Amino acid sequence: MTLSASRRLSQTEFLLELNPVVEAELNRHIPVAKEWFPHEYIPWSDGRNFDGILGGDPWLETDSKLSDVARSALIINLLTEDNLPSYHHEIAVLFGRDQAWGDWVHRWTAEEGRHGAALRDYLTVTRAVDPVELEQLRMAHMSQGYQSANDEDVLRSLAYVSFQELATRVSHRNTGRATGDPIADQLLARIAADENLHMIFYRNLLKAALELDPNQTMRAITEVVKTFEMPGADIPGFQRKAVQMAVDGIYDLRQHRDEVVMPVLRFWKVFDLEGLDADGEQARQELSDFLDNLDVQASRFEDKRDLLKARMAARKG
Ligand SMILES: [Fe+2]
Ligand SMILES: [Fe+2]
Repeated sequence: MTLSASRRLSQTEFLLELNPVVEAELNRHIPVAKEWFPHEYIPWSDGRNFDGILGGDPWLETDSKLSDVARSALIINLLTEDNLPSYHHEIAVLFGRDQAWGDWVHRWTAEEGRHGAALRDYLTVTRAVDPVELEQLRMAHMSQGYQSANDEDVLRSLAYVSFQELATRVSHRNTGRATGDPIADQLLARIAADENLHMIFYRNLLKAALELDPNQTMRAITEVVKTFEMPGADIPGFQRKAVQMAVDGIYDLRQHRDEVVMPVLRFWKVFDLEGLDADGEQARQELSDFLDNLDVQASRFEDKRDLLKARMAARKG
């Protein structure tokens, strides 16, 4: 089917047109997504019983070998993974559970299910964080559920998850390094590799959408970049922990712009697209202006952080 660039596809048409692409992407994804087993990554022999039913030792802050920021990042990353049932609901409703879309929704959910399980096992066995606080936070966070800001829009949802999976990859990877623990680093690198494959899957789908309807897809990309927020943004205490993570370089504005947003935009070649109509051009211009502004904000943050670090070093010296 040939489409003129001015044709606007409906949501249902996008799902139908993209179904063969989902199928081809699944066939590409399955052989490259290496099977792995969470239990192999956990240092079980480091564990001991907790107080309560088994009468072991209560958790003490001195049990944790990790820095405060590494703990904050692990808690945010785990609570974000924990909300999987809500994410599954959002994409199952939007993408449907039929044909290739359904196969992907289920496969993705199964892969994501490993991440939360493995992270929790690690944190509990190594006594890295307070297990009571962690469970209370999980209950609070999951009780809120998650509602996608793009839950009625296939294109915006695909654009969002392309960026979000890459953002999660960067965050897991840098969290691993921040722990200073080779075991945590290895586990988080393994999880980050999964997130990268998820990003590639969605990124390729959106690339196909750009060919089907460049103008509508361009608008979707612009809106998503302008409003992007991490899925864990409503975790209790998220802001404070996010600032801590930014100050420590686990996930900051510079990384968000240069390592997450820009590589995906470059892959889609959004600034080389030809034949956009007036609406498409307008969307691309807004995107370009937004990225320029993000660059300024990222530099401002880096300057402030350098100043703060210099002051802290002077105080220590
Ligand atoms: Fe994940
Ligand atoms: Fe993922």
